Amino acid sequence: MKDVVDKRTGSHEETRGDHLGIPDPFARFGASYPDHFTRKVFLADGSSVTIRAIKPEDAPLLVRFFEALSPQTVFFRFLAHLKALPNQWVKYFTVIEYDRDVALVATRGNEESVHIEGVGRIMRHTGATDGELAVVVADDRQGLGLGRILVEDCIRYAAELGMRRVEGLIARDNGRALSLAEKLGFSVSREAGTDLCEVERRLDTTG
Ligand SMILES: CC(C)(COP(=O)(O)OP(=O)(O)OC[C@H]1O[C@@H](n2cnc3c(N)ncnc32)[C@H](O)[C@@H]1OP(=O)(O)O)[C@@H](O)C(=O)NCCC(=O)NCCS
Repeated sequence: MKDVVDKRTGSHEETRGDHLGIPDPFARFGASYPDHFTRKVFLADGSSVTIRAIKPEDAPLLVRFFEALSPQTVFFRFLAHLKALPNQWVKYFTVIEYDRDVALVATRGNEESVHIEGVGRIMRHTGATDGELAVVVADDRQGLGLGRILVEDCIRYAAELGMRRVEGLIARDNGRALSLAEKLGFSVSREAGTDLCEVERRLDTTG
């Protein structure tokens, strides 16, 4: 996905500008954990997961989640054939400025044995009111409604944080993600000269 393997900047981090020293008016370090993102939801098979904001302690769970993904799912998520998540990316994915970006996990299990079943995020473009959407659900948990729930929650909280527009890149042969995007009101257009589609949606900030 563009926030990780950015076709234009060559790096996921450059889209945030952190290491470039660009001041981001939306960055307010030390924002408290958004407890109100947490909710329990039921999936189509009757099982339940907890949706909540990701936290730094989730790093090992995230690595395990990634390691269990099929190559196809990894490719659809990152638009690249990744074999492992670099440590720097794990940090980027789990250490979140909660006032600026939205990053959610769907977890199942109890404190003794908990695992991640899906991840959704909208990372704000530096200094802007738009962001980049990415979502991924464990292979054996796809088709149960979790992807939709994660995207809907991400959108709701992104609007709450003042974002007005969300975009994303989806492989042209990723019918499931394109269908989900259309159902959630994203406009879809082909990116010229690539095998990708751009999806975008304006956010309702009134609610
Ligand atoms: C795309 C993805 C996130 C969707 O999550 P999901 O949990 O499988 O999807 P859901 O069960 O919420 O279904 C959402 C929509 O997808 C479509 N869908 C679901 N299962 C499908 C299937 N087997 N075939 C075709 N479309 C399907 C439907 O449009 C569905 O809408 P509905 O609920 O009205 O029927 C998930 O498949 C995934 O992780 N794919 C790999 C990573 C990826 O492609 N990410 C997107 C780009 S970042």
